[in-house]
Amino acid sequence: MAIISISPFSAFILILTVIPFSEAGLSPHYYHQTCPQAEDIIFQTVRNASIYDPKVPARLLRMFFHDCFIRGCDASLLLDSTPANKAEKDGPPNISVRSFYVIEEAKAKIEKACPHTVSCADVLAIAARDVVAMSKGPWWPVLKGRKDGRVSKANETINLPSPFSNATTLIQSFAKRGLDVKDLVTLSGGHTLGFSHCSSFSARIHNSIDPTINSEFAMSLKKKCPLKNKDRNAGEFLDSTSSRFDNDYYKRITMGKGVFGSDQALYGDSRTKGIVDSYAKDEKLFFKEFAASMVKLGNVGVIEDGEIRVKCNVVN
Ligand code: HEM
Ligand SMILES: *[C@@H]1O[C@H](CO)[C@@H](O)[C@H](O)[C@H]1NC(C)=O
Ligand SMILES: *[C@@H]1O[C@H](CO)[C@@H](O)[C@H](O)[C@H]1NC(C)=O
Ligand SMILES: *[C@@H]1O[C@H](CO)[C@@H](O)[C@H](O)[C@H]1NC(C)=O
Ligand SMILES: *[C@@H]1O[C@H](CO)[C@@H](O)[C@H](O)[C@H]1NC(C)=O
Repeated sequence: MAIISISPFSAFILILTVIPFSEAGLSPHYYHQTCPQAEDIIFQTVRNASIYDPKVPARLLRMFFHDCFIRGCDASLLLDSTPANKAEKDGPPNISVRSFYVIEEAKAKIEKACPHTVSCADVLAIAARDVVAMSKGPWWPVLKGRKDGRVSKANETINLPSPFSNATTLIQSFAKRGLDVKDLVTLSGGHTLGFSHCSSFSARIHNSIDPTINSEFAMSLKKKCPLKNKDRNAGEFLDSTSSRFDNDYYKRITMGKGVFGSDQALYGDSRTKGIVDSYAKDEKLFFKEFAASMVKLGNVGVIEDGEIRVKCNVVN
């Protein structure tokens, strides 16, 4: 049964039978007494922002992934640089995550309703779930109770996986965060939403063409991203239905039409290929597993000795 087709309440029951409570001590009812309106405020803010700017859902989903992969899900990515410290936001490789204002806005409204209660890390985790559900993907209960970190270092973003990584490197990068091979393939399905700039894949299509890429698709990418590309905004959508959360990403990989080398690599390795096939065939299975893997991603590196930041872009 697809999670999207049933009510949030029954989805809640369904998921809890599959997903154990977090080892990190997170709970789905964390703000039940202290800020029952938190999730509603976040949903309204994210929905409104997404109507004004349809790029918002993809950006917030990616933001959550990047935050969790560096220092755990502690909102370190939301901190601004200071004169003394260059923060993750401004780190190399230029991670080009945007739309921080949406999280900051939701947090400002929550601070009015229930001051000093809800962490920025939790706001981001809830927003990431909401953008998926809003894009017609699955819904799941978000475990909450994260604290916000006080440290954000630009140079640590080099530990994010690269779009040119092979399967072995990707598997290792996820394993370091307690995420297994299935989580890697499942979470890569986040590339059902959004867009990439040419620089993230142009090395695959110029000079020596990556042999794993469909040749027609390589031609179309070359047209969009000529070798002497002058348009900084040029690029390609990550699947053919880039604002709808679906399994098209996996179907395209089976046809050699993954945009990144790291996407296509999942179809060239025996450890991951079968999982890609199973999601390309069965969208409901993908939705169910995506919800479960997002909960696991949300448990990565959760800290206990952090703070509840008042504003998401600065430490208290
Ligand atoms: C497996 C390793 C991954 C690599 C190497 C990777 C790499 C990238 C790159 C290079 C971009 C394009 C940046 C640009 O040129 O603007 C991108 C975009 C994106 N990524 Fe990933 N990613 C990975 C995993 C994930 C995961 C786990 C998620 C979420 C669950 C995710 C969600 C997104 C989204 C939604 C976008 C589109 C952003 C937008 O439209 O603004 N990615 N990723
Ligand atoms: C909706 O979003 C727009 C654009 O971000 C913003 O200007 C406006 O204040 C928002 N409205 C509400 C009610 O949040
Ligand atoms: C990242 O990109 C922005 C705008 O595209 C640019 O202003 C900034 O200098 C870049 N940062 C790094 C570290 O390359
Ligand atoms: C980042 O720089 C600091 C010093 O400023 C250093 O201690 C740390 O090891 C560096 N981290 C990485 C991942 O390079
Ligand atoms: C994968 O990439 C790593 C790092 O670039 C490299 O050391 C390794 O040999 C590659 N593995 C395979 C199987 O190509």
